[in-house]
Amino acid sequence: MKKQTAAITAVGGYVPDFVLSNKVLETMVDTNDEWITTRTGIKERRILKEENKGTSYMAIKAAEDLIKKSGVDPAEIDFVLVATATPDLPVAATAAYVASEIGAVNAFSYDLQAACSSFLYGMSTATSYIESGRYKKVLLIGADKMSSIIDYTDRTTCIIFGDGAGAVLFEPNDEGLGHQDEYLRTDGCGRQFLKIEAGGSILPASEETVKNKQHYVYQDGKSVFKFAVSNMADVSALIMERNGLTKEDVNWLVPHQANKRIIDATANRMGVDADKVMMNIQRYGNTTSATLPLLLYDYEKQLKKGDNLIFAAFGGGFTWGSIYLKWAYNS
Ligand code: UT7
Repeated sequence: MKKQTAAITAVGGYVPDFVLSNKVLETMVDTNDEWITTRTGIKERRILKEENKGTSYMAIKAAEDLIKKSGVDPAEIDFVLVATATPDLPVAATAAYVASEIGAVNAFSYDLQAACSSFLYGMSTATSYIESGRYKKVLLIGADKMSSIIDYTDRTTCIIFGDGAGAVLFEPNDEGLGHQDEYLRTDGCGRQFLKIEAGGSILPASEETVKNKQHYVYQDGKSVFKFAVSNMADVSALIMERNGLTKEDVNWLVPHQANKRIIDATANRMGVDADKVMMNIQRYGNTTSATLPLLLYDYEKQLKKGDNLIFAAFGGGFTWGSIYLKWAYNS
């Protein structure tokens, strides 16, 4: 018997009904479908329009979908981790509310924030708890209501982001499937290129910060692009090399959905063919913490037990990394 590993045993997802297409964006800002499609690969994104509903609304829907599909008893969940850059409230963990609402009455919970790498880092946290033997059922949710922090008069950011949520359950596996290896990195110099300037401890909210639009996402796209392309490709290649994986061994690349050009560059560097690259950026845009679980949600039926998956992400901070995971079940 191999050492106990931590494997994904169920997946759930949720995206809001409202579709914001490139065509509609053309009527809002000075942009066009052709520019957005060729520069990013995005055709449309989902927006949570319901009033007074935050990230938890989508996180709960994704978790409920997982619970319904898998039949897991929420009372048996030990830990609920919500990866998000857009918590319901600045203080009071979104995860605590989500856990209570889904009936995870015996769980503890907290949020994890690492911008677009939140879910990837969350996979590291979730699997470590299980590998240590301390907990048996960990629910990891990636959810973001990006529309709550986007300026819809800024064409450089409003065309990119969307709202959504995805959830996975991690459980012990004694066949050696699940998490195999990871390489996670950060570089704090990156925060000048991708940030929300106000509303934190440096610059608390004021009339001035609202007037100056400092509560919205600011991104120096070109600089972020450069770092994202080289770092995501580097870590993915490194994970393959140190695990002795050839391009034939890799069944799926599961890349953060920030820009199709970044995804293509990563796949090229790994030598992985396009048909092995999970992609749904055209339908959802960049949903930040939800991109990776929403890929699993969309591709679950095509995954086979034993498949080698390479996850890769890059985000604000900067934060980035790659995780090698063996899929543990056939749908
Ligand atoms: O997920 C977290 C990490 N984030 C990322 O990985 C995002 C990384 N960055 C990117 O994906 C790309 O940099 C963007 C999609 C954000 C921008 O694409 P780009 O090819 O880097 O464009 P650019 O910023 O260099 O802009 C090129 C031109 C500029 O015009 P000039 O100066 O050449 O006249 C922009 O003003 O395109 C203009 N532009 C637009 N035109 C039409 C910028 N946004 C738009 C727009 N529609 N929405």
